[in-house]
Amino acid sequence: MIPVCEPAFFGKEKEYVQECMDTNWISSLGRFVPLFEERFASFIGTKHGIACSNGTSALYLAFASLGIGPGDEVIVPNLSNIASANSVILAGAKPVLVDIEEPSLGIDASKIEEKITDKTKAILVVHLYGHPCDMEKIIAIKEKHNLFLVEDCAEAHGASIKGKRVGSFGDASAWSFYSNKILMTGEGGMVLTDNNEVDKQVRLIRDLGFTEPRFHHSVLGFNYRMTNIHAAIGYAQVEQVDEILAKKKALKSLYDRLIAEVPGVRIQSKAEWAEPVLWMYVIFLEDSFGMTPKELMAYLKEKGVDSRPLFYPFHRQPLYTTGGDARYPSCEGSFPVSDKVSETGLYLPSGVNLTEEQVVTIVDALKEASKA
Ligand SMILES: Cc1ncc(COP(=O)(O)O)c(C=O)c1O
Repeated sequence: MIPVCEPAFFGKEKEYVQECMDTNWISSLGRFVPLFEERFASFIGTKHGIACSNGTSALYLAFASLGIGPGDEVIVPNLSNIASANSVILAGAKPVLVDIEEPSLGIDASKIEEKITDKTKAILVVHLYGHPCDMEKIIAIKEKHNLFLVEDCAEAHGASIKGKRVGSFGDASAWSFYSNKILMTGEGGMVLTDNNEVDKQVRLIRDLGFTEPRFHHSVLGFNYRMTNIHAAIGYAQVEQVDEILAKKKALKSLYDRLIAEVPGVRIQSKAEWAEPVLWMYVIFLEDSFGMTPKELMAYLKEKGVDSRPLFYPFHRQPLYTTGGDARYPSCEGSFPVSDKVSETGLYLPSGVNLTEEQVVTIVDALKEASKA
């Protein structure tokens, strides 16, 4: 089976992890945590980086550090990993859903203002499947309504707009280094910000609100720390980020070239102002393809090729439609683009170490499916 993603370590990951073991710095103190934070923040272009346990905790830390909590509303795109909305709920606030747009697959800026109320405190954008959101329009809305802007960058390490990297546009950005991400630490996350106060708050909340004197607490905090071992892997990964992004770019070009020959398959296009990165290779099936994504995924599995559906829209999530908590988002209204994208899309294997031969095998299986 060709997996959708496999970790690939071709830098100093093992050497650095070995150092953690040899020196006994295996929990959250140790040299790799600040090294990883500084190097990743400098790669993206922000002043501060605060490493944490995963992308979900990074999102929570971003909201909590900005003071977002009970009684507040946060505008959220309707299609993403459930963590994007659940982290708002965890902070005590309520997500308010807005449809996405094509081709960015990010939040539709033209539909944000109609959802703003006097409770709205922030906009969360998600740079989905490696494509940046339309930040020029979103920043204009943020400024007009005096809102916070948080960027969920879990799937877009290195994507940019006119040379400025995503994750450097908002008041804070949240990152995941889960093992299918472009840079990976196994489990892991980070908050980036230019704001000194946000940096201070995130560090406090990440660490149970520990201040002096020890065991006196004045801030509600949790243990969302990253271990030195995870940071060691992350530091080795970010040292090779240019190489990783170049490999992903080459993979995308190869797929684009081969898939152009497959009838009924549309590839994810890009907005003219965007410089996306490849996270997962997304395709959309036209009616003429003759199979639904679910049928194609089963067909590919038989041929030894793994694939995955796209996210399921939030307004259809059983958790939210059945209610149960006043903080859950309202699922009323129509979200035609999220529905269409979710119903017609899927993604193909996209690991950084995929060989040309494997890509040819995958596309051949797609071609056979289109004829079946
Ligand atoms: C868009 C998005 N946001 C948030 C997350 C949550 O990150 P984590 O799994 O590291 O908690 C993920 C994926 O894992 C994601 O894809």
